[in-house]
Amino acid sequence: MTRHDDSETTAAPERWAALAPGAVLLDGFHALKHALRFGAPVSMALTSDRAAALELAEDLADDLTDRLADLLVEVPAQTLRTLLPRVHPTGVAALAGRPDRDAHLQALARRPRQAPIVVLDNPRNLGNVGAVVRLAAGFGATGVITTGTLDPWHPNAVRSGAGLHYATAVERLPAEDLPDGPLYVLDPEGEDIRAVAVPDDALLVFGSERHGVSAELRGRADRLVALPMRPQVSSYNLATSVAMALFHWGSGARAD
Ligand SMILES: C[S@@+](CC[C@H](N)C(=O)[O-])C[C@H]1O[C@@H](n2cnc3c(N)ncnc32)[C@H](O)[C@@H]1O
Repeated sequence: MTRHDDSETTAAPERWAALAPGAVLLDGFHALKHALRFGAPVSMALTSDRAAALELAEDLADDLTDRLADLLVEVPAQTLRTLLPRVHPTGVAALAGRPDRDAHLQALARRPRQAPIVVLDNPRNLGNVGAVVRLAAGFGATGVITTGTLDPWHPNAVRSGAGLHYATAVERLPAEDLPDGPLYVLDPEGEDIRAVAVPDDALLVFGSERHGVSAELRGRADRLVALPMRPQVSSYNLATSVAMALFHWGSGARAD
């Protein structure tokens, strides 16, 4: 089988799924650290080197040393390799429960909204989805909604989100069920975003890597806004576009 579509399910999630159906795989120390900080219900945490993992905790997460000492169970490296063909360099992997979808939907719909929601319209690359979740968490966005078929909680998206799925509301929804709020659609043909104040309750809509924003969402846009690019550059990467738009919002260019 040719590996060209990052939405493919790898063998690893299947093995973990057999251990704990519906659980979220936290791959590596940093994913576990972030997930714990943002309230993930971690049910199991394995490491092939407990002393090294606790040393990492001392260095990078002294707020979590006691919890990690309670949670981390040492297993032979071979056991981790059986569960995960690509064991994270930190030799840590954990399982956590997935947050309640209804609670997320309520958080996404709640008004007034203090920060935008990022909408990814039919994204195809799970690495991008995770990178966007990480950005949304960092900027304090209300959440990330994806349309289309990819599960934004897929292990590959959680891996690239570094466990920060627990720091914001991440859900998949049909485009017709998006929460209320002005639709700011990011499109290279729009008006220059630098002249646009992005309101806190905006839905910032980004298109798929190959096809851009669907005609349906484009047609519903309140504003079509563009990130500046020099001539002959067609577009930016999806996740970097989200970074720029959130930075623009976060830098205070907001509507009164
Ligand atoms: C890789 S681009 C999609 C390129 C796609 N071939 C197209 O025709 O639109 C992914 C998404 O990032 C956003 N994006 C990329 N460059 C942008 C720019 N200069 N201005 C506004 N949005 C941009 C858009 O939302 C776009 O749909």
